[in-house]
Amino acid sequence: MAKSVTHFICQNCGAEFPKWAGKCEQCGEWNTLVETVVSARSTKHEARNSKQAQIIKFQDIQNKEVERETTGIGELDRVLGGGLVPGSVVLLAGEPGIGKSTLLTQLAMKLGGKTVGSVLTVLYVCGEESPEQIKLRIMRLKRTDLSERSVLSLSFLPTTDVDEVISQAGNPSLMIVDSIQTMATEDLTGMAGSVGQIRECAYRLLNLAKETGVPVFLVGHVTKEGAIAGPKVLEHLVDTVLYLEGDKHHEFRILRSQKNRFGPVDEVGVFTMSGSGLIEVNNPSDVFLEERQKNVPGSCVAIVMEGTRPVLVEIQALVVPSQLAMPRRVASGIDQRRLQLLVAVLSKRLRLPLATDDVYVNVAGGLNLKEPAADLAVCLAIVSSFKNKPIGAKTAAFGEVGLLGEIRKVSWSEKRIKEAKKLGYSQIISPGTAKDLSTAVKF
Ligand code: TYD
Ligand code: MG
Repeated sequence: MAKSVTHFICQNCGAEFPKWAGKCEQCGEWNTLVETVVSARSTKHEARNSKQAQIIKFQDIQNKEVERETTGIGELDRVLGGGLVPGSVVLLAGEPGIGKSTLLTQLAMKLGGKTVGSVLTVLYVCGEESPEQIKLRIMRLKRTDLSERSVLSLSFLPTTDVDEVISQAGNPSLMIVDSIQTMATEDLTGMAGSVGQIRECAYRLLNLAKETGVPVFLVGHVTKEGAIAGPKVLEHLVDTVLYLEGDKHHEFRILRSQKNRFGPVDEVGVFTMSGSGLIEVNNPSDVFLEERQKNVPGSCVAIVMEGTRPVLVEIQALVVPSQLAMPRRVASGIDQRRLQLLVAVLSKRLRLPLATDDVYVNVAGGLNLKEPAADLAVCLAIVSSFKNKPIGAKTAAFGEVGLLGEIRKVSWSEKRIKEAKKLGYSQIISPGTAKDLSTAVKF
């Protein structure tokens, strides 16, 4: 094999340099040079001669149904769009310690334990942990996931060399690479985890997946500050990007799909992290409202959408006299600026004297709401706390609040109302029942 040559390419302007430098001499940007393999012999001209791409007419394209292998984890299947697609590369990203390895270990056990015609084998490439550590985790998971069959079908490859992975992979039914940040190739001089290494390794694994048809899961760590080069540089390369989110101090974990070439992107999977692994939550509302205390001022149930599923969550607010010149507005689970805006609307439109009060808002259960449909419930919870008047136990609310105090329509109204009714909420405050805040607060 020809010795590969590497160049440093500026990610901003595309200029090439033989050596790394902190600053691109061409465009003046800092830290934009990334090491990239440039094969010694393959010039563009040669490449053009060696492979002939062919033009295909629309009518000659064959209809091809995407075949899928269900994973046995319903919530994961839902997010993937029905199951694993052969040859697809899925990036599972999330903060360290959130449960990525746990989810993939469970996937390996489930898939290996499936009874189908042929034997399903899973290869776990562990760059981060030793096989002994993973075995310990598997013993911890025991329960239903673990069967004789699933244990037998699982093999490990402890390495951080991506070329070794490619040469040894064989033809498993699924390959898990944990994590892409630990993988490196000797063709590049950069350290494992650098942008160049991550991109090149992912690219080689992608080629392997496309050539052999083996579905590949890549684990990618993200930090809150985005300090480590990681998932962001891979998003355009892989077929599917899943994010596992949640608060480490809470048990809920939400699996979101950010991009999916083989399915919808608006589905989410809900899990709880337990002492024995991740457990699927089929009815999230039940769990989110489990600890709710009824008839306490400052609590309102919001009907929000998680993917295509309506979910009921409790919004809590606390309004107390402030000791500070600049009263506090503290939001957890909703956007801080959104809270400031809603407090301003309440002050102006309902003449609520909040200027001397601290306002705290919390979404119970650690869920992070991004939907404006939660606005109305946030406002109602604040008003309820301010007036020290509880909202009825059977009341739920949804709707976006505008700057004029009007309540605006949101998508999926019917679905939200249906779900709330199903769970016994008889009074629903929505854009359909209240046109503005002053009508809505007559609870
Ligand atoms: P892990 O999957 O190792 O996280 P990641 O791969 O995303 O870095 O899981 C980390 C946390 O999950 C760890 O703090 C322990 C906890 N955990 C449980 O609570 N229950 C379990 O059954 C397992 C396996 C892990
Ligand atoms: Mg891990």
